[in-house]
Amino acid sequence: MYNLKDTYTLPNGRAIPCIGFGTWQAPDGETAENAVASALEAGYRHIDTAAAYKNEKSVGNAIRRSGINRSEIFVTSKVWNQDRGYGRTLAAFERTMEQLGLEYLDLYLIHWPASPSRYSDWRELNLGTWMAMCELYKAGKVKAIGVSNFKPSHLEALMNSSIAPMVNQIEFHPGFMQTETVDFCRDNGIIVEAWSPLGTGKLLADPSLNEVAGRYGVSAAQLCIRWCIQHQVLPLPKSVTPSRIRENIDVFGFDISQEDMSLIDALPYIGGSGLDPDKIDF
Ligand code: A2P
Repeated sequence: MYNLKDTYTLPNGRAIPCIGFGTWQAPDGETAENAVASALEAGYRHIDTAAAYKNEKSVGNAIRRSGINRSEIFVTSKVWNQDRGYGRTLAAFERTMEQLGLEYLDLYLIHWPASPSRYSDWRELNLGTWMAMCELYKAGKVKAIGVSNFKPSHLEALMNSSIAPMVNQIEFHPGFMQTETVDFCRDNGIIVEAWSPLGTGKLLADPSLNEVAGRYGVSAAQLCIRWCIQHQVLPLPKSVTPSRIRENIDVFGFDISQEDMSLIDALPYIGGSGLDPDKIDF
């Protein structure tokens, strides 16, 4: 990846821009709308939202307000946990499109798997949701489909469907690499996206990361984002601050050496969401 316009190729041949703009915790209204507008102005062409973020309306407004051709922007949204199952997912999708005010989605994801610890019928529940995703895909309403926060056990239960997940969006940042999940995805041609590539900002004061970043003359945030890219994991940094929004895509002017990649890979857990898909209670 040499610049922001570079893309990965999804299993169905479609292109997905190599950095996306995260909108989790961007409050609905002016804040989210201005953040997305700043991102589009800075050059982002990949915006990630979700029904659960409750900011789809603002995201849609910013996209339409930008005047940029719809076909030039890659838009992702996600179906929330309470809408799991075939019929509910189809209905949730309609609400998402109404909120966004768009004609189609580039990528639609199952936000979290139903987990074995909570649901004895978790396989059937996830499969029902997945069948709806497949139907939306076949109808052309979404151009690609995938999942989020799925571990290999959850993914395995979907792999025999007529269409396999094309993307898995997981928490991924220094100190929390989820190697088993990333390896499973790689072996099965699933593109991995990183939510909270900065550990929701908790990593940015870490002395080791700052020391390495200093050697390249970049910020710890830029180092984390570049580190994702060099792992071929697609980062979705979130910010509502225009200067940071710009900073987070200024990551193509340096290469982290193999030695420093290994050093970052070896960092212990520094911080993150602490959420485990097998244990969540929402
Ligand atoms: P803000 O949105 O107020 O600008 P993550 O993407 O890992 O979830 O991290 C998001 C958090 O990190 C937000 O609190 C965001 O703050 C902050 N953040 C994003 N980019 C930067 C940056 N370049 N420098 C410092 N903090 C940043």
